[in-house]
Amino acid sequence: MSQEQWKSKIGFIFAAAGSAIGLGAIWKFPYIAGTGGGGAFFLIFLFFTVLLGAPLLLGEFVVGRRAQSDAVTAYKKFAPNSSWSLIGKLGIVTCFILLSFYSVVGGWIIIYLFEAIRGGLNGLSQDQYGALFGELIAKPWSTLLAQLVFMLMAIVVVAKGVQKGIEKASKIMIPALFILFLILVIRSVTLDQSIEGIEFLLVPDFTKLTSESILLALGQAFFTLSLGVSVMVTYASYLPKTQNLPFSAISIIVINILVALLAGLAIFPGVFSFGMEPDAGPVLIFAVLPAVFSQMQFGVIFFINFLLLFLFAALTSAFSMLEIFVAATTKHDKTKRKKRAWTLGLLIFVLGIPSCLSYGVLSDVLVFDKTIFDLFDFTVSNVLMPLGALLISIFVPLKISKSALYEEISLGSKSGKMFFNVWYYLLKYVTPIAIVIVFLDVLGFLDK
Ligand code: PFF
Repeated sequence: MSQEQWKSKIGFIFAAAGSAIGLGAIWKFPYIAGTGGGGAFFLIFLFFTVLLGAPLLLGEFVVGRRAQSDAVTAYKKFAPNSSWSLIGKLGIVTCFILLSFYSVVGGWIIIYLFEAIRGGLNGLSQDQYGALFGELIAKPWSTLLAQLVFMLMAIVVVAKGVQKGIEKASKIMIPALFILFLILVIRSVTLDQSIEGIEFLLVPDFTKLTSESILLALGQAFFTLSLGVSVMVTYASYLPKTQNLPFSAISIIVINILVALLAGLAIFPGVFSFGMEPDAGPVLIFAVLPAVFSQMQFGVIFFINFLLLFLFAALTSAFSMLEIFVAATTKHDKTKRKKRAWTLGLLIFVLGIPSCLSYGVLSDVLVFDKTIFDLFDFTVSNVLMPLGALLISIFVPLKISKSALYEEISLGSKSGKMFFNVWYYLLKYVTPIAIVIVFLDVLGFLDK
């Protein structure tokens, strides 16, 4: 079967950035930075993104583009008759669990959109915004319906195929999201006492860091870049040889850091200005942003637009999670794509039902002291994704020859050679060692 391809070079960058930018940078980053140490957390997150995330992203691109095949077959091509293709299978299982709870939050955005349009968010006090969020996400039927709607949107686009659906949507969404975020940040940093919020995000206080928050920062760096699950392998498999991989990877890293920074700058000034707590948890952006928007002229209209873009951002990430299954199970047989997207998408919805209800009727069901939603999130973000990342960082230098790697990423110049060497050694040594150290630290092996 012929392999599908992205239509343009920039189209790939937008699609991969679309996978990266989503709930991770906009919803999760501010709230875990809020609980995990503010500026110090942000700095550690940046450090992991640049030193571990960037080499790994390029590593996944190389695997995908060179193999020109889905996440499972790709590893088989380099290491036939071995167990390395388990990396691809692990990625698929991880995305399956991930999308099941990701779609729950996607549903919350739809609920907020609905509320904003029908005027339910107008004229509330700060406390009321927080309370409203709690009430809305506890309702079983509406949250399940919203989650289903979110999944249906993802299914319809993925069923259409990568370049028709995913590429087009991402190309519009990302620039629009940037513009709206800029407007939001301008409003947020000009609120009273906004300086406290800016300091909270940008001035590090390392005494606030714990082993757990370092693991969270590591998980977050991989989560926001969609790493360790071979999604980026799958996306890069639709690339022609002419694409400059380092440029693509660096662009995505920069865009991703900028979005996290913009999200932080949009939210923390508001948090401090309205006298809220930065460690409020998942409610954070849903309680703070309506309040910031309510301080603007035409705030409701801006807020509706923001929610639409936020929904798009979450959807473009969801597409990539669903795409990895569809690619791996159809093996590019286009006739099967539609059926697979629907079956898998609906199965994921069913798996997500307990996570959805864990904010309402199942809130008392705790496993290892966590709700089902939190357990899924923790397992995916802080165990499975770093584990996948560790395996990929071992696989690439071990199973792909140095000359083949060089061919894939060389830029044909002297600085290209230096770039290659920095990348190669970061991936071969720094990435795996750093991941293992963070794990050992959390498990208590490094305690004095
Ligand atoms: N990068 C996405 C986000 O930050 O919201 C989440 C994600 C998408 C993770 C796709 C993994 C993945 F395969």
